[in-house]
Amino acid sequence: MITERTILPETLDALAADDPAAQRARRDLRRVHRVMGTRAILRRALSACLHDARRTEPLRVLEIGAGDGTLLLALARDMAADLPPVTLTLLDRQRLLAPETAAAYARLGWTVQMQTADILEWAAADGRQDSKDASWDLIVANLFLHHFPNPTLTDLLDAVARRCQRFVAVEPRRTWLAWLASHLVGALGANAVTREDAVLSVRAGFNGAELGALWSRAPDWEIREYPAGLFSHVFHAGRVAQAS
Ligand SMILES: C[S@@+](CC[C@H](N)C(=O)[O-])C[C@H]1O[C@@H](n2cnc3c(N)ncnc32)[C@H](O)[C@@H]1O
Repeated sequence: MITERTILPETLDALAADDPAAQRARRDLRRVHRVMGTRAILRRALSACLHDARRTEPLRVLEIGAGDGTLLLALARDMAADLPPVTLTLLDRQRLLAPETAAAYARLGWTVQMQTADILEWAAADGRQDSKDASWDLIVANLFLHHFPNPTLTDLLDAVARRCQRFVAVEPRRTWLAWLASHLVGALGANAVTREDAVLSVRAGFNGAELGALWSRAPDWEIREYPAGLFSHVFHAGRVAQAS
C-alpha cells in the first residue's frame, strides 16, 4: 500500500475538449476501464444499492465528472431491463456528450442531459436554491473523486450527502500493484496524456476506509467501502431506509 495520497493536476483536465490528444485520451480511458473491469464492478455496486428502487417511478441519477458518458451507457445497456425509467444528468466541466451517445441512451428509454459545471461550484451552491438538485435518487462518480485533496473532498461529499439518497464511487486503488500497472498502460496503445495521468491517478487514489472517514458522520447512512478487482476502490453509501 502507498501510504499517503499525492494529488497533482492531471493533463487531461487542462486540455480543451476538441484537442486531439484529449479526444484520444478519452478513447484510451475506455480501454483502461476494460482492463480495470470497471463495468462489472460498477454493475455489482449499483445492483446492491438499487435493489429497493421502485420500478414504477423514474430514477433520478446524476453522474459527477462524467466525461463523455460512455461508461454509464455501457451500464445502462446491462441494467436497463432491471431498472425503472431513468432520467440521467451527466455533470462535467467540459461538454462532452456526443449526439450518438445521447441517441443510444434514448434507445434504451433513458432521458439524458449534460450539465456543464465545475463540481466545486455545484457543491458550494445551496441545495435549497434548486430543490430538484436536492433529491437525486443516486449520484455516481467514476475515476473522479481522486482529483481532490481531502479537505475539498470532505466538502464535496457533504454536498453529495445533502442531495442524494444513494452514492456510489469507483476510484483508483492506491497500491503498489496498481502503481506498477499504471506504468504499463502504454502497452494498451495509450497516448502520453493517459500514460502520465494513469500514474497520477493511482498516487491520488484510495484504500482502506479513507472515503468513509471523509463522509458525513450522520447515523442515517449505511456505508460500504472495499477493494474491487485488481485496481479499483469502491465506496457506497445509502440512507438507512434505502441501504442494502
Ligand atoms: C478521469 S476522467 C473520468 C471520466 C469518466 N467518469 C470515466 O470514468 O470514464 C475525469 C473527468 O472529470 C472531469 N473534471 C475534472 N475536474 C472537474 C471539476 N472540478 N468539475 C467537473 N468536472 C471535472 C474531467 O473533465 C473529466 O471528464
